[in-house]
Amino acid sequence: MKTIATLLDYHDRTKHRRARYAASLGYMDWATQPDPFRRYKGATLIPLTHSEATPPYHLLFQKDPLPTAPLCYESLSQLLRYSLGLAAIKSHGGSSWALRCNASSGNLHPTECYVIAPSIEGISDHATLSHYAPREHALELLHTYDSSLEEGTFFIALSSVVWREAWKYGERCWRYCQLDAGHAYQSINIAASMLGWKCELLNVDSTKIASLCGLDQVERFDPNETESPDLLIRIGAGTSLTLPHTPKISYDANRLSPAHHLWPVLEVIADATKGIYPKIPPLKRGNYLPAPSKSSGEIILKRRSAQMMDGSTITQEQFRSLLSASLLCENTSNVHFVLFVHRVEGLGKGLYLYVRDKKDLISLQQTLDETFTWKECDEGLYLLREGDFRGAAQMVSCNQEIAKEGAFSFGMLCTFSSALEIHGGIGYKNLYHQCGMIGQMLYLEATSLHLSATGIGCFLDDEFHALLGIRDQRYQSLYHFTIGRAIVDTRITTLPPY
Ligand SMILES: Cc1cc2nc3c(=O)[nH]c(=O)nc-3n(C[C@H](O)[C@H](O)[C@H](O)COP(=O)(O)O)c2cc1C
Repeated sequence: MKTIATLLDYHDRTKHRRARYAASLGYMDWATQPDPFRRYKGATLIPLTHSEATPPYHLLFQKDPLPTAPLCYESLSQLLRYSLGLAAIKSHGGSSWALRCNASSGNLHPTECYVIAPSIEGISDHATLSHYAPREHALELLHTYDSSLEEGTFFIALSSVVWREAWKYGERCWRYCQLDAGHAYQSINIAASMLGWKCELLNVDSTKIASLCGLDQVERFDPNETESPDLLIRIGAGTSLTLPHTPKISYDANRLSPAHHLWPVLEVIADATKGIYPKIPPLKRGNYLPAPSKSSGEIILKRRSAQMMDGSTITQEQFRSLLSASLLCENTSNVHFVLFVHRVEGLGKGLYLYVRDKKDLISLQQTLDETFTWKECDEGLYLLREGDFRGAAQMVSCNQEIAKEGAFSFGMLCTFSSALEIHGGIGYKNLYHQCGMIGQMLYLEATSLHLSATGIGCFLDDEFHALLGIRDQRYQSLYHFTIGRAIVDTRITTLPPY
């Protein structure tokens, strides 16, 4: 009970409200801006390379996977390049910055990636623990194990440097770290399917992930820049759950900032959300397959967040494809979409609900405003209220115009109190992961449909809930999103990242 109260307290105090945003510094302290790239001083750096050929995007989602690539130096390189690697270098007005395949709130990239692999020619003739360095597209070798690991299967662990997000977003930042971890997972999942590999989220304890990657060796990190363990993924055909024991690692993490602003509640929520990662029942994925399209590598590298939308209309087929594509994220059955439809051909403007898993239909009907019409327009899609919701969409999205000028925007409404009651603190964390996974999937689907998207972490939680008549904790919106056609800022130049 204490944990649930802690979660609810964090959730409530980090809600943005029109009258009071969640606590943060309120300005950008450029002198303490964190380094977006973690490095381990002295660790051997193994540069990665691979062939540029990638399969067409739509083939990744067939029921029968693509032929399985062998686990080798090149395939591992390809997986990391198209999941967490750099996608482009942007520059404008004398400054330049890197963008990556995975989207991240504020482009701050809190997510770090560790690879635990059997012996691979070109990497080591022992099983290894390494850290992925995206700027160099290289592995930093942290440890070689004496014991061997099952051939053909490897593990990826994801963690968050919460400070990177706290620097800008203060107390609400823990939510963003988790959304980002979900984006990173889905990026890895998609890059794995390019190689015919299956990803599985393992139901292990977060303390196990920390000890596996040496994150619990806190003396190797600046005390304000430690990493909190998020997810452990098994990739490949194997079923091994035997994880090696990682002894003391010899390399210290680089310092990311010269000084820090502390937000004590971030320690509290990190502690309250430890535990064994929950098993989420899979969604019914339906028969949807993306239309034949370009190479998956091209789509992944082209994905960009829209900063402005042009206010144009999309087709109903594009709209439908986007909703159906979200069902390809199989472990996301706790999430439904409340949509502000502004400009979709053949679909009236209004407030809609897309029920992604029918199990929740009745409880949604009992929870939401009793005057809603619930007119079913398509499978799972209900018109709740006709009307022009552009102003409301912008208002709940912290006044961001992209939510009004996109073809539609939406909030990801999650089964909330039940997930917390069943899974405890780690269930709260997992809900954000589910939303982030869907976000990354929809970014790519939008790109393949020649549209653009933007994740919206900044939204007014209870103003949105009030629009829906939500007065309790059964459902809460944890992430917002907008999709449409972007206006590209031609003043910004784009360079290849490597
Ligand atoms: C969890 C999350 C929340 C985000 N919130 C916002 C937002 O509120 N407003 C916005 O304009 N962009 C938002 N973004 C988009 C990021 O700013 C964008 O991903 C980042 O700048 C990197 O650019 P890229 O997506 O083009 O790689 C968000 C992205 C994520 C993943």
